[in-house]
Amino acid sequence: MTTSQAMTRPTSRREWLVPAGLLLLAAVPALAGSVRLTELASDPVVTEANARFVTQPLPVVVHIICVTTYSMLGAFQFVPSLRRRRWHRLAGRVLAPAGLGVALTGLWMTAFYDLPAHDNMIVNGARYVVGTAMAVSIVLGVRAALRRDFVNHPAWMMRAYALAMGAGTQAVLLGPATVIAGPLSTTVYATGMVAAWVINVAFAEWLIRRRRTGRSTGGTARRRA
Ligand code: HEM
Repeated sequence: MTTSQAMTRPTSRREWLVPAGLLLLAAVPALAGSVRLTELASDPVVTEANARFVTQPLPVVVHIICVTTYSMLGAFQFVPSLRRRRWHRLAGRVLAPAGLGVALTGLWMTAFYDLPAHDNMIVNGARYVVGTAMAVSIVLGVRAALRRDFVNHPAWMMRAYALAMGAGTQAVLLGPATVIAGPLSTTVYATGMVAAWVINVAFAEWLIRRRRTGRSTGGTARRRA
């Protein structure tokens, strides 16, 4: 092994840690989605719990296809070596419409599905904010890329991805809480849901600031107009 190989290999292995973590985070909601798709494909008995999905399956089916594509494929956009290849742009052409699909079907279900027993108006209100912010972030991220503004492009795309991945953080917060404490009250459930989005947005803003500070103190990337 040459010296340069020895120096680059650990870094290239380490760069896969972030996508691996993101894939893990996306796994639980993606699994829940595949369970729902299997149920809907098998002509299910209509119950109080599934009536909204069975009577209007299209939005939830499109939502689940888009969330699985967006959360899984999106994780790979965080690999620095892939970002330098054509892969990043090709994947971006799938991710932008998939991300808009996530946000718009999410908003549609928020507006038109009956509110399930475990949700309340706080969760519903937060979904309007999150869905709208995610769609706007993707549009601004695409616009920045088209303008070759590679400072604002990753910032908006990270915001959109962080908002979407609220679903994963919600699984991490509320899953164990439900296992330990049993069915959660709507207030505790709503607090966990909103806290997950807040945590993700705060983390994304911290990352964006850190990248910007790194760049302004001697980094290489600048606004490439
Ligand atoms: C990558 C991110 C996301 C994932 C992985 C995800 C996952 C899912 C899954 C699996 C379902 C079906 C739930 C079930 O079968 O009981 C669902 C439903 C839903 N999602 Fe998402 N979602 C994501 C993003 C969003 C966003 C951003 C919004 C906000 C507008 C949203 C709003 C909804 C709504 C309103 C429902 C229906 C909830 C119900 O009536 O029980 N989702 N989501």
